[in-house]
Amino acid sequence: MTSLNFILQNIILCLDVDSCGYILSDLPLGLYSAACRRLSSASRCKQSITGLDISDRLSKFLSSQTNLYRLILRGKKLIRGKVDAVDFDSMIRISMANNGSANDDTTNQNSSPSDLLKNEAPIDELSREIQETLSVSQRHKFWETQPVGQFKDLRDSTLPEGPIEPPTPLSEVKQEPYNLPTPYEWVTCDINSEETCLEVYNLLSNNYVEDDENMFRFNYSKEFLRWALHPPGYFKTWHIGVRVKTSKKLVAFITGIPAKIRVNKDIVTMAEVNFLCVHKKLRSKRLAPVMIKEVTRRVHLENIWQAAYTAGVVLPTPITSCQYWHRSLNPKKLIDVGFSRLGPRMTMSRTMKLYKLPDSPLTPGFRKMELRDVPSVTRLLKAYLLQFIVAPDFDEIDVEHWIVPKEGVVDSFVVESQETHEVTDFCSFYSLPSSILGHPNHTNLKAAYSYYNVVTKTPLVQLMNDALIVAKQMDFDVFNALDVMHNEGFLKELKYGPGDGKLHYYLYNYRIKSMLKSSELGLVLL
Ligand SMILES: CC(C)(COP(=O)(O)OP(=O)(O)OC[C@H]1O[C@@H](n2cnc3c(N)ncnc32)[C@H](O)[C@@H]1OP(=O)(O)O)[C@@H](O)C(=O)NCCC(=O)NCCS
Repeated sequence: MTSLNFILQNIILCLDVDSCGYILSDLPLGLYSAACRRLSSASRCKQSITGLDISDRLSKFLSSQTNLYRLILRGKKLIRGKVDAVDFDSMIRISMANNGSANDDTTNQNSSPSDLLKNEAPIDELSREIQETLSVSQRHKFWETQPVGQFKDLRDSTLPEGPIEPPTPLSEVKQEPYNLPTPYEWVTCDINSEETCLEVYNLLSNNYVEDDENMFRFNYSKEFLRWALHPPGYFKTWHIGVRVKTSKKLVAFITGIPAKIRVNKDIVTMAEVNFLCVHKKLRSKRLAPVMIKEVTRRVHLENIWQAAYTAGVVLPTPITSCQYWHRSLNPKKLIDVGFSRLGPRMTMSRTMKLYKLPDSPLTPGFRKMELRDVPSVTRLLKAYLLQFIVAPDFDEIDVEHWIVPKEGVVDSFVVESQETHEVTDFCSFYSLPSSILGHPNHTNLKAAYSYYNVVTKTPLVQLMNDALIVAKQMDFDVFNALDVMHNEGFLKELKYGPGDGKLHYYLYNYRIKSMLKSSELGLVLL
């Protein structure tokens, strides 16, 4: 399948940059990144998934390859095979049927570009044809009906910042749930119930987010889910499941939690929507839009009209697109399971030496955060987050929930001044393992994710090196971080490598004037 996806990726690179964002959104999770990874050995590339910044080097690399022509022509045939309702998944399926194998990208291997182009239109014509086939109305049947920034408005600077639609009177909010197909029913999932929590855990651990090569799948623990879904002021009714009426099997899930998010100067009460998951057997049946509408309805019933969410796919329209970076802690295991590769001219022992860390933290006064640190950590965090355009507005109650260490879920460390006993810095990370799919020896990848970090006295690189050291002591295999906030200030220096995962941030019913740089974002969603 990847080879065909790769073909599609290459087609995208021939289109004008505006079209890229649209087309990418029709691709399954992360395929653009997968293509880039394949190319990265020849040309280390970096480009925005929204297509606004396609690397020159990558484009040059592709345009100089004879097989690019072959790939385009192949793509053109795929498109011709599908007259309406173009979506790339179906194109892949059609192509599989036509060609026998989705892995076959060897067709015409021996033809020269000129042979291949003999009876074909030039690339710009082809490009136009592809763009016309993908008319806007076919692209986001659901998201185009929603109060979210639309791609076509990207360059319209006259549109005001703030809510896209005003709130409606509560009496006008639909009182009954949206209709589901007859075999299914809505349920509110009580995460405090051990039985329900296990059902949610099982649904997610078998059906939630995978990387684009289906090697790893997020494996949020039950304790993590309880923590993530029970912040101060949470609404039980926002933890929504779909069951099969007859068997009561849980087949889909979506959640919201309340949060105060500051956008520029305005503090807006929002829902953070997360854990959208539809069982693999029920995919592509337009169940996700119904789930999103239902969570929106329940959020409206609480008189809340905005939401924040993230996705690995491009939807209308990201407020920013972030990149994941990965720091190996257990390079041997990461290489064994295919998470990372041995670098050129590197041996395993040199790699292990490269990533070796001291046995214990180096900063004097570095210790685990305790409940008594909540006031100082809140002060530090509040002041720090003011620098970013979009960031949560945390108070002490939030910090007690989100930052105080919880075993196996979230870890936080402070630096306490030896002289004044004042807390001057802190770092935190949460624990989100992934299942390793189909590996003979390993089943679980232990990953720590950088959360909120603030320094006032300790150099950021030094603090984050201590975070790596304690994460290693805790037996994590890898430490991940997004390029948000000031994270770029330590990533390269501490030997993080860029991943191929992109994470796009969105706001529902709130327009911001222009797209943010990832470093202007102060929000980490779980
Ligand atoms: C994400 C998921 C629920 C989508 O369900 P699906 O069966 O593939 O898609 P459906 O046919 O139900 O719905 C398609 C619509 O949902 C939208 N959609 C797909 N993924 C989405 C996401 N992560 N967030 C919001 N909308 C999404 C599509 O863009 C499409 O709307 P459009 O026509 O306006 O573009 C499903 O693929 C899934 O469970 N994937 C694994 C878990 C996952 O990736 N969850 C999202 C984490 S961010």
